[in-house]
Amino acid sequence: MLDTLTFGFLGGGNMASALIGGLIARGVPADSIRVVDPFPEAQQRLARDLGVHASGAPDAAFGASDVLVLAVKPQQFREAAAQLLPHMPAGDGNLVISVAAGIRLQDMQRWLGGRHRVVRAMPNTPALAGLGMTGLAAPAALSDKDREIASAVAQAVGKCVWVENDAQIDGVTAISGSGPAYVFYFIEAMQRAATELGLSAEQGRELAVETFRGAAALAGQSAEPVSTLRERVTSKGGTTYAALTAMDAAGIGDAFVRAMHAAAARGKEMGAEFGKD
Ligand SMILES: NC(=O)c1ccc[n+]([C@@H]2O[C@H](COP(=O)([O-])OP(=O)(O)OC[C@H]3O[C@@H](n4cnc5c(N)ncnc54)[C@H](OP(=O)(O)O)[C@@H]3O)[C@@H](O)[C@H]2O)c1
Repeated sequence: MLDTLTFGFLGGGNMASALIGGLIARGVPADSIRVVDPFPEAQQRLARDLGVHASGAPDAAFGASDVLVLAVKPQQFREAAAQLLPHMPAGDGNLVISVAAGIRLQDMQRWLGGRHRVVRAMPNTPALAGLGMTGLAAPAALSDKDREIASAVAQAVGKCVWVENDAQIDGVTAISGSGPAYVFYFIEAMQRAATELGLSAEQGRELAVETFRGAAALAGQSAEPVSTLRERVTSKGGTTYAALTAMDAAGIGDAFVRAMHAAAARGKEMGAEFGKD
């Protein structure tokens, strides 16, 4: 379905490059993809590495792309939208997907002249390795076809899930958007423990990373509740039991849940800050 569409990426950074690479790998011809990025070096890199058409500012051909992906930093979003708007066809001629963290649907629509075909996407950094998890939200009136296109774009770098509204995107941000950092945090702690227990830092890293990979694969392929998987490896009085008892005594589970509430609250605050005028 994607290979018949034209794409315009506003912003040619990490997330745009990951998405473009994913689209090309799924059969979208590179010459159907235009990228706008103000940095000449970024333009050269995109044209050389991905074979796409790259330029420094939007023009009519860019604005007429079937799908426009806004992949600039949140604080650059409003200005980038203002630069793009005069080059977009009147009405709802193109589907606009934003991957900018914290930019709410209502603000996107407002800054893009009241458009209805808009999607807010919240990807995460594993998208750079093709293993992203993206949350998607759109106005209720968005067509099934547009939803399919947005899903296919997100699936070019991993998996996706649709949610109802901006408030739920704050939840997605708190779980999977910021989530890779939580995993890195735990890997770091496991590495530190490994060295304290007489292993090398490299061994600690490999043991921790592979444990996350394996446990995630196991949880992903099992239909059982994750709590059952945990209980199955926690014999009473054993080593895992000793570790989990220490974690419970330190309130780690509850603190971790509170941490994600803090992330969601910050996401909400940022949405209000970015959209305040
Ligand atoms: N990276 C992630 O894992 C991740 C995850 C979730 C969401 N996101 C979101 O994805 C968006 C992009 O993130 P990123 O990591 O890809 O950032 P990035 O690497 O900084 O890319 C943004 C690019 O857009 C360019 N740009 C700035 N203003 C522009 C304009 N007016 N027109 C066209 N291009 C413009 C920037 O150029 P300059 O360098 O010159 O400013 C930069 O090359 C952000 O909003 C972020 O919140 C990223």
